Amino acid sequence: MTVSSNAEISTSSLSKRDFDVERVRGDFPGLHQMVHEKPLVYLDSAASAQKPQQVIDALSHFYAHDYANIHRGVHELSQRATKAYENARLKVQRFMGARSEREIIFLRGTTEGINLVAQTYGRANVSEGDEVLITTMEHHSNIVPWQMLCEEKGARLVVGPIDDRGELDMDAFEELIGPRTKLVALGHVSNALGTINPVKEIIELAHERGIPVLLDGAQAAPHISLDVVDLDCDFYTISGHKMFGPSGIGALYVRESILEKMPPYQGGGDMISSVSFEKTTYNRLPFRFEAGTPNIAGAVGLGAAIDYLNELGMESIAAYEEELLDYGTEALRAVPGLRMIGEASNKASVLSFVLEGIHPHDIGTILDQEGIAVRTGHHCAQPVMDRFGLAATARASLALYNTRGDIDRLIHALETVRKVFG
Ligand code: ALA
Repeated sequence: MTVSSNAEISTSSLSKRDFDVERVRGDFPGLHQMVHEKPLVYLDSAASAQKPQQVIDALSHFYAHDYANIHRGVHELSQRATKAYENARLKVQRFMGARSEREIIFLRGTTEGINLVAQTYGRANVSEGDEVLITTMEHHSNIVPWQMLCEEKGARLVVGPIDDRGELDMDAFEELIGPRTKLVALGHVSNALGTINPVKEIIELAHERGIPVLLDGAQAAPHISLDVVDLDCDFYTISGHKMFGPSGIGALYVRESILEKMPPYQGGGDMISSVSFEKTTYNRLPFRFEAGTPNIAGAVGLGAAIDYLNELGMESIAAYEEELLDYGTEALRAVPGLRMIGEASNKASVLSFVLEGIHPHDIGTILDQEGIAVRTGHHCAQPVMDRFGLAATARASLALYNTRGDIDRLIHALETVRKVFG
């Protein structure tokens, strides 16, 4: 992976040397099992990542010893749970490089983060005739919430094109940032193509025109060192389950000056300061945006996942994965009849491909029989498939626990696929 200026990753040989993948693999019990009598090769981390024992233990310990509701009790367990939950928020704040924990909202994940922004910031700031600018390579979760908003407001969703390599056409994108653009929203890393977008450049272009930018960081957070202050983005959202944490927990960063003015999202307990039938006043940040009992243990588990990533070091992880992605790309390109989908010069973790004359679901089925887990289909990014004239691809996605051996097993199994269907 070659990484753009926004997410500086040192690919020093020191960090490559330091990364002990066998030790890492030892932390992930889910990897060590037989599937259809073959040792599992897990190449579906872009869909959801396996969990290290450290995260499993943190969840188990929290439920066994410290569990209670938060922010509500004077009793010891509630105090402990509150401390653990708020401590997890501080970990997320530091992981994302945010200035203040007030800028970090816990929620279900990236999808909910984008919906929150659309339904609060979007509804308050987008009017009839305005535009929201996205790209062709967005995940459905960064398309549909904006379509819903645009439909409600009579606004227009504008889409920046991509080229045959899966890179954003920056000239066209810049031209699309117009006087009616109210928000730019795009993925930091594409889940279907692996493209790392030049987000810092895009944010500069948008900010020159006074337009805020939202980044969908679901596919970036497990692979790239984040720094929302350096990026200067206005909204950034992540999903715990892709970062080796639990599912059903994620976080949304919002620049405090924007968050202060945003109307609340959901109403309910904990997001209020006082309630009467005449008038309700809202809680301070960030609690104003966290109605109801949240996924308390999920936040604690996400904190443990962040500890795990920090201990390995995002720079070491990125350097290791860059090498692995290069190895996988070269190996796949040598497979007869294989076409890579997504060949951006700046990529992370994703190897999407089709095999001539063979349906991706058939590829996935045979690979599964060989103990290899990949995702096949449109990857919740149907407009990307349309752009490449495809209904589906097979996608092998890499994480910090994958090895060259995993790639070799994939290549070998693709020979079987070609024999069966070729
Ligand atoms: N967004 C997830 C993926 O890319 C589910 O597979």
